[in-house]
Amino acid sequence: MCMNVHANIKNMKIFAIQGSPNKKGSTAHLLENYLKGVREIHPEAEIQEVFLQNRNIGYCRGCQACKSGKSKRCVFKDDIYDLYQDFEEADVFVIASPIYWYDVSGQTKVFIDRLYGSDFNNMHPNKQIVLLTSYAGKTIEEAGINSAISIIERFADFFGAQFKQKYMVGTSSKEYYDSPVKNNKIALKEVYELGKQLRLEETKSFH
Ligand SMILES: Cc1cc2nc3c(=O)[nH]c(=O)nc-3n(C[C@H](O)[C@H](O)[C@H](O)COP(=O)(O)O)c2cc1C
Repeated sequence: MCMNVHANIKNMKIFAIQGSPNKKGSTAHLLENYLKGVREIHPEAEIQEVFLQNRNIGYCRGCQACKSGKSKRCVFKDDIYDLYQDFEEADVFVIASPIYWYDVSGQTKVFIDRLYGSDFNNMHPNKQIVLLTSYAGKTIEEAGINSAISIIERFADFFGAQFKQKYMVGTSSKEYYDSPVKNNKIALKEVYELGKQLRLEETKSFH
């Protein structure tokens, strides 16, 4: 019984993007603690994290070559090229992004745009999508979280994936921008617990 669970978990892949330019900011702390929770329950899981700010990932040029050519891949071989396979093979795709102008950050959006260069013939019915986000607005409405969530929901739908988990935390206080997540013990604990709830064993690998 135990052996079956471990054999299954061993093949599970988690691919996470960190879409804030702040390497040690609130979003980074959310992702770090979420993955800590995942690792605790699923030590065999293969986890890959990509800090988008340090990658050379250019804008989608809308040339449609990925859709009309033989390669079924983006023809621009910058840093995203090797990441297509990681995205496609991932059982869990974690998007960690701050809210920028009522949406995910530009870094995150450019990455998502470039996933247009992934092969649309292969849907991802077993892939789980997770969104971790921090924002400064005083309320969810003011922060514009709902529009960001709606975009990720539709992104998941498009790939036939399941939008499984989300965690949102405000970083504003009386003094604006004065409560980074690293000092928010409740948020750190909650997102860690969310990571522990990830049910990798329920996911079937499509590759
Ligand atoms: C360009 C920019 C746009 C932002 N837009 C929003 C916004 O629309 N709603 C909001 O609540 N916070 C907004 N913020 C605040 C960030 O979401 C917030 O400070 C977040 O916690 C930063 O995360 P980080 O520490 O990981 O960079 C914005 C910040 C920047 C720099």
